[in-house]
Amino acid sequence: MKRKLLIILPLSIVIFITGCSEGDKNTTSTKNKVEPVQKAPLVTKRWYTFEQAVKGNQLFQTNCASCHKSDASGAENWRKTDANGKLPPPPLNGTAHAWHHPLPIMRRTVYFGGAPVGGSMPGFSDKLSKDDIDSVLAWVQSHWSDEIYNMWYRKNIKTGYTFKRTKSNQ
Ligand code: HEC
Repeated sequence: MKRKLLIILPLSIVIFITGCSEGDKNTTSTKNKVEPVQKAPLVTKRWYTFEQAVKGNQLFQTNCASCHKSDASGAENWRKTDANGKLPPPPLNGTAHAWHHPLPIMRRTVYFGGAPVGGSMPGFSDKLSKDDIDSVLAWVQSHWSDEIYNMWYRKNIKTGYTFKRTKSNQ
């Protein structure tokens, strides 16, 4: 009995060790290529400043909250088109699709509204300056977790968008 154990034990250690190195090989071999966890560096610093988000809160409550709700949580039934085939205002707080769109697209949506893509959101080009729109989007994104923000950030980098850094957000 004791003898058997003495043989089995070193054997299992050898199997264990080779098993580990096999696993390592798999992750680096070209055959089983594993996507790198991050394509662009993870950022926890955001493109906007705290001041922008504070200003954006006011602008959002005045211009956007009537549809997207004051906490940006959107209409409850936002996934279902209404009788006219239009989508209700979606949440902008990171729980819906807004984070799939790079910054230039988000800016465009607010500037021109949803009409160019068959939506019903009004455009704000006559009410908000481009700086105002950036502030509103800053406030919107201040609701996003770092995880959502980082995924969104990488989408921007993929499309070739480069963020301008200001002194206060570096
Ligand atoms: C009259 C209602 C209404 C107002 C006011 C409104 N929105 Fe919207 N918004 C919508 C609807 C509806 C959609 C869905 C797309 C469409 O139908 O145009 C939308 C879509 C969006 C999207 C795209 C979200 C996504 O998941 O792709 C963003 C970003 C957005 N709105 C931001 C804003 C901001 C910022 C303001 C205020 C400056 C605002 N909206 C004001 C109704 C509104």
